[in-house]
This record gives sequence, C-alpha cells and structure tokens, in this order.
Amino acid sequence: MKSVGIKGLGYYVPERIMTNADYEKIVDTSDEWITSMTGIKERHRIAPEQATSDMCFEAAKKALAAAKLSAEDLDLIIVATVTPDHHAQGAACIVQKKLGLKTIPAFDISAGCSGLTYGLTLGDSLIKSGRFKRILLIAAESLTKITNYEDRGTCVLFGDGAAAVILEETEEGYGILSSYIGAEGEDDGILSIPAGGSRKPHTVESIQNNEQYIVMKGPDVYKFAVNICPAATKKAMELAGLKMTDLDLFIPHQANIRIIEAAVKRLRIPPEKVFINIQKYGNTSAATTGIAMGEAIEQGILTKGKIVAITAFGSGLTFGSVVMKWAY
Ligand code: UT7
Repeated sequence: MKSVGIKGLGYYVPERIMTNADYEKIVDTSDEWITSMTGIKERHRIAPEQATSDMCFEAAKKALAAAKLSAEDLDLIIVATVTPDHHAQGAACIVQKKLGLKTIPAFDISAGCSGLTYGLTLGDSLIKSGRFKRILLIAAESLTKITNYEDRGTCVLFGDGAAAVILEETEEGYGILSSYIGAEGEDDGILSIPAGGSRKPHTVESIQNNEQYIVMKGPDVYKFAVNICPAATKKAMELAGLKMTDLDLFIPHQANIRIIEAAVKRLRIPPEKVFINIQKYGNTSAATTGIAMGEAIEQGILTKGKIVAITAFGSGLTFGSVVMKWAY
C-alpha cells in the first residue's frame, strides 16, 4: 500500500485585524466575556473586494513553493469550504483558472469545519487508488461574509483564512497514517444559513430577517464538540495503531478554548503537545487546523517524523480526525 502525505503547506490570512474592542463597539459584548468564554482576542477579516478563491490562490502559491512544485504538476484541485465565491460554482474551478490551469478536475466539498479532515481522507484514497498523483487541497473560509453583526452569539467567533496542502505519494510509513470521519446529520438548524438554499430561496422578507447569515445553537454544538473531539482523536490514533502517548502534536479545531481544554483533559495530552492559536484567528472553520499546521511548521514544532493529529467538528454535524507522520 502506498503512503500518501502532505509535501507542502501554505496559509493566508487577510490583513485586517478585528480585536475584541472592535466588537464592543458593534454589539453588547466585552473583551472579558469573549476571552473567558472562547479564548479569542483577534481575528482576520477579509476585505470587501476579496472572496474565498482569492485567499485560496494566495495559500496555494505558498503550498506549491513549499513543495518546490509548479501548478502544472497538479492533477486535481479540491477546495473545502462553505463560503465559495458564488453558489452553484465551485471555488476550486476559480482557483484552477487563477493558477493558469486549463483542464484538470476541480471541485468543492462542503463538510463545514471538518472540511480539511474530509479532504485529506478523500485525497489519500484518490492517490492510493492510482487515479491521481498530486492534489492541491485547500481549506478556506470567508465566514465574516456570512456573519450577522447583530448577533453577539456568533459574530465575535468567526474569522477568515485559508490553508493549502499538496498531497502526493510519500516515503513509506510517512504521511497519513489513519483517518476517522463521520457525521451526525441534523436538520434542526443547529448550524446553518436559514435562507438562500433550495429549502428557502431568498426573498425580500428573508433578507429583512437576516436569514442570509449563519445561525448557530452554540450550546448544542458545544455539547457535540466536547464529546466528539476526544472520541474521534482516540479512534484515529487506534486506527493508526498508536497510543495517545505516541502523539507529538495535537491540533484541535480552533472553535473555543474551553472545548479544546475539555478534549485535552479527557485525552490526557500534556499542554506542551497541544497547538493553540485561536487567540489570533478566531474560528476560521475548515481552515483552522491547516493554519495551525502552518504556524507549527514556522515555529519548528512540526518537523519530519513527528506524529500529529488534527481533529475537527462542525456544521452537518460533521467530525473528523487525521493522524499523520509528518512527511517533510
Ligand atoms: O466551528 C464549529 C462551530 N462552532 C462551535 O464550535 C461553537 C460551539 N459553541 C460555543 O463555543 C459556545 O456555545 C459559545 C461560545 C458560542 C457560547 O457559550 P455558551 O457557554 O454556550 O453560552 P450561551 O450561548 O449559553 O450564552 C450564555 C450567555 C447568554 O446570556 P443569558 O441568556 O445567560 O443572559 C448569551 O446571551 O452569554 C450571552 N452571550 C454573550 N454575552 C456577551 C452570548 N454571546 C455573547 C457575547 N458577549 N458575545
């Protein structure tokens, strides 16, 4: 069986930074509440003229440079996002055009914040099958474009960003060791945008009711997350044939510091093995674990041979955990 791994990673966050003080001017909130309840201090916000594919393009160029490859070396593009530039057109197709490519397949996957773990699982299988050789997988989200800035329960949480990886066959025993993905489907509006889809197309009334923005039953997602985050990580480690003590680095979805702390406690992972950057970026959905891997590489924490687990959960409800032996 082939080994498939990440051979280059790049990430991008927009320039504009929104601090907790900025939100104090927009909604009835406080730095104290946001910090203690979520761990977030700042997040990056996409410019009005930017869209998800623009961030994807920036991250993709960096990933290609890190892998010492050019766009022509790719044979598939996958973008994990719930905020494509346009409905009814994959952001991946726009990225293909931006990269100057003509015919390689390009499509999006919609798995919420678990998108990167789903994409890695899919890419691993597609390369192992022999159908594709080198895949550009990008997790990118412009959540601030679908955020209701009158809803203090959600607007303080979200940020924008993108992370891109190049997946290809790698040295035996390196790369993706296991993955465990799943879903607990719901249609109770726990985490979705009420209007603008086929269930409820936009009307003047839906816009007036702010139904074009994300709605979340925070406590329901919280309950799901504190259970699934440790359970999925444990399962993925078991599937990799590893003990929790074999883990060098745990990169959980950066949605809430309290969810991370609860998961880490249950998994008994020492704090020095846990990567946290939620304070700088907030929740960038599918991109959080990718951006975190990028920062861990920059900081010299994620190096060849290290065992890393990324675990995410999100709308759907979906979840996923991927265990890798870092390949470069
Ligand atoms: O990426 C995956 C998707 N997202 C998540 O993983 C998020 C999961 N959920 C959470 O992280 C938490 O549910 C939140 C941080 C969103 C909220 O924390 P909570 O402990 O579940 O609080 P809550 O929603 O039950 O609200 C508690 C109180 C409420 O006030 P009352 O009714 O007790 O008076 C809220 O109105 O906190 C209030 N509140 C705020 N207060 C100040 C909610 N948002 C804010 C705010 N500032 N921004």
